[in-house]
Amino acid sequence: MKVLIVGGGGREHALAWAVARSEKVSKVYVAPGNGGTAMMGGKVGNVALKATDVDGLLRFALDESIDLTVIGPEQPLEAGIVDRFSGSGKKVFGPTKYAAQLETSKVFAKEFMRRNGIPTAAYEVFRDYVSAKDFLERTTVFPQVIKASGLAAGKGVIVAETRDDAMRAIDDLFEKRIFGKAADEVVIESFLTGQEASVFVLTDGTDYRFFLPSQDHKRIGDGDTGKNTGGMGAYAPAPLVSEEVLKKVEKQVVIPTLEGMRKEGSPYTGFLYIGLMIENGEPSVVEYNARLGDPEAQVVLPLLESDLVTVIEASLNGTLGEVSFEMKGEAATTVVLASKGYPDSYEKGKEISVVESKLKELDNVMLFHAGTSFDGGVLKTAGGRVLSVTAQAPTLKESIDLAYSAVGYVDFDGAYYRRDIGAKALF
Ligand code: AMP
Ligand code: GLY
Repeated sequence: MKVLIVGGGGREHALAWAVARSEKVSKVYVAPGNGGTAMMGGKVGNVALKATDVDGLLRFALDESIDLTVIGPEQPLEAGIVDRFSGSGKKVFGPTKYAAQLETSKVFAKEFMRRNGIPTAAYEVFRDYVSAKDFLERTTVFPQVIKASGLAAGKGVIVAETRDDAMRAIDDLFEKRIFGKAADEVVIESFLTGQEASVFVLTDGTDYRFFLPSQDHKRIGDGDTGKNTGGMGAYAPAPLVSEEVLKKVEKQVVIPTLEGMRKEGSPYTGFLYIGLMIENGEPSVVEYNARLGDPEAQVVLPLLESDLVTVIEASLNGTLGEVSFEMKGEAATTVVLASKGYPDSYEKGKEISVVESKLKELDNVMLFHAGTSFDGGVLKTAGGRVLSVTAQAPTLKESIDLAYSAVGYVDFDGAYYRRDIGAKALF
């Protein structure tokens, strides 16, 4: 079968790798892909179509008789790619535009959690400057967390330590409109303490399967300091999500979320990302995403023993209960290499050197590309997060050590990476 993967980041490189492993698959197209998916060779190739070019992607899928399309990022979901493909009789894995609102509208997600009794921070919704400021004048407890409701490339959340910070954030959102329409509605919610973890399920709307729980590292600096980024590294399984915690997540979050979406006439299908804050073993939902996380996908997909394509097909056919979804029983760590200056402005076009011979000597190491492209046959940086190096090993500690030794064989001018990925889990 022929599979189309939509997106061009590290997550999509990992998806392409996982899909290409399947014996059922004869061809994998990645649109637009990156330098890494271009280099995979064999069954995998890039297609020069943007992830948001829904018309172009649908035409391509129809012309090339694509059997299955898997959506990586959130923007095409918001653009209704799943509705469009399904409407044209093309098999596609991901939530509908309506169901994707769990990610694309924080107001929708918070109200949904409230009406379904799903644990999350207390909140209020504001649609104008005056009522938001009034609320903050009356608020005595800080920090408060201020969120643009719409998609803002992971930047629409401000943790305001003081009332002044919060007032400035409200100015930025409602007056300066720094996130434009994404902040037509704003959520102000209470600050949760604890540790964050990411739990992903694959679901047909009723039945579901868990990937291994993982943990991202959102801040740019070691020790979780500095600005928020798309994610600087991840590991799985995260010991923070014990079996007991996972049971609570299943009972208090996964089941009521899927039931709630069914009740609303929009069953949620695809990958569902549950961003959690866990304190004293009690989970609370920080956010939903309508997709796999990046860079978490680069650790959870390599740890999947079962054939991803078989599981996705079963999910689309309503037979998820009949297929196995086994994990490898190992641990994985991924370290992101970013351009100097990221998450602020950075330069592109730096030549990337990879000591392939050395990397090949290291078993269980994979290089997933994100912001890379070929320029006259030379691999160059083309984004903020450039590559991630994933290592798999029997224990978390070994996977961390292996990932960092592999990082030594990849370089470009100004390459930056955190030195403490996974360290939090080694207590
Ligand atoms: P979100 O896009 O909603 O996941 O928010 C981005 C990041 O902001 C999260 O990963 C958390 O680190 C932080 N954050 C969001 N909401 C809260 C909250 N209520 N309490 C504490 N931290 C939060
Ligand atoms: N790693 C966080 C995200 O994908 O949203």
